[in-house]
Amino acid sequence: SPARDLEGRSVLVTAGGTREPLDPVRYIGNRSSGRQGIAIARAARARGARVTLIAAHVEVDLPTGIDVVRVETTAELLEAATTAAPSHDLVIMAAAVADYRPVTVSDDKIKKASTGEHLTLELVQNPDILATLSHAERNGRLIVGFAAETATDRDDLIRLGREKIARKGCDFLVVNGVGWTTGFAQDDNTVTVLDASGAIVFEASGSKTSVADDILGVFATVLTGAE
Ligand code: C5P
Repeated sequence: SPARDLEGRSVLVTAGGTREPLDPVRYIGNRSSGRQGIAIARAARARGARVTLIAAHVEVDLPTGIDVVRVETTAELLEAATTAAPSHDLVIMAAAVADYRPVTVSDDKIKKASTGEHLTLELVQNPDILATLSHAERNGRLIVGFAAETATDRDDLIRLGREKIARKGCDFLVVNGVGWTTGFAQDDNTVTVLDASGAIVFEASGSKTSVADDILGVFATVLTGAE
């Protein structure tokens, strides 16, 4: 029978890609399908946790038996995550959050006639939700970030991951390589889990379903050991 090591625990998962509107019909988005985050939400439920899923744009079916909050933009994800986080023991930020949003959102559809040959979009940085939650009051809450990097090789991937976890302040960072044909929208994944010191604590490879279950085993053990 599957492990029930998250019985009595609550897990918040973010999944999918945020979309930042330009006008009523257009947005800036990314290629995240939500597969890995949704697999984590399912696996957490199967291990006995109460699960909340904050879902941005996803391309797979949403699980049943869990609380789902739908969001579109990074600002909405920030609002939903800061509201939900205090009532959860483990937060896993698998969503691909837009780093920038358009400075202005046009009320009307942007017309070629009004822009001429070139159109320049001005973007501004979004707040970093993972860093915000990591540096807020925690009350023992475990926070896990994800990092999808276009690294040249595994060493480069781990180097980028170490820089990132130092900046973000989360407890663990799940690092995976992405490219034109790997990572997003694929059924399989290969991940390296780094702890706050940058040490490699776990590696997993396989279907996103099995990777989800494997890494939850690691975090369940940490939660149990922290008691
Ligand atoms: O900096 P980068 O986007 O690579 O970091 C990825 C991690 O940070 C993911 O866990 C993602 O959900 C989170 N993130 C965030 N807010 C942002 C950008 C990323 O929470 N504005």
